[in-house]
Amino acid sequence: MIPFNHLGPVFKMFASLIYPGEFRKVLESTVQRVRNKGTVLDVGSGTGILSQFAQAVRGDLRFMMVDPAPGMLRFAPGFAEKVIGRAESLPFPPGLFDAVFTGDVVHHFSDPAAALGEIQRVMRSGGVLVVFDIDPGSPLGALITRGEKIFREPAHFYRPERLAGLLAPRGFNCKIYRYGWRYSIIANTGDRQ
Ligand SMILES: C[S@@+](CC[C@H](N)C(=O)[O-])C[C@H]1O[C@@H](n2cnc3c(N)ncnc32)[C@H](O)[C@@H]1O
Repeated sequence: MIPFNHLGPVFKMFASLIYPGEFRKVLESTVQRVRNKGTVLDVGSGTGILSQFAQAVRGDLRFMMVDPAPGMLRFAPGFAEKVIGRAESLPFPPGLFDAVFTGDVVHHFSDPAAALGEIQRVMRSGGVLVVFDIDPGSPLGALITRGEKIFREPAHFYRPERLAGLLAPRGFNCKIYRYGWRYSIIANTGDRQ
């Protein structure tokens, strides 16, 4: 397994380099549409780089981060509330969040169906989910998939269309953005009563 609990200083220094500039623009324009003083959850936040990007343009939002590795959360910025936990069992009430981010994390979920169900549960009607991950259909993505299996990670890598296909029956309306061997999905929830 990848020892995330010991990688906080590394992610603190280098996590911003993971994300292409085009994705950062997509994230920023998505977060601009979140309602005033809304609440955001960063799932598998690590040291919280996605929340940092978002907070730079939306300082009015309330940011919460959840990650199983305290050694990552320790290096996350002070503006966020930090909770130790896993996506498969989120320690939050239903409908709390206006937006949920999950950056470079879906492939680490031990039970992706349970995690997606939990993300859906904690989002409010009209909320938005931002997913960023690696495309296993690209040559580099296929190599990384093999590498993560060697490290005995779950390696649940999805092609973007496949992940969008898993989100659609849960009421998410998905738009896919591609960045070479990586992609993001902006998934809006419909009106759920
Ligand atoms: C590659 S890091 C990405 C961290 C951060 N999102 C970023 O972009 O820098 C993957 C993160 O997922 C977390 N993680 C692993 N399994 C998880 C799970 N089941 N639920 C939530 N987070 C998980 C790890 O602890 C780690 O912080």
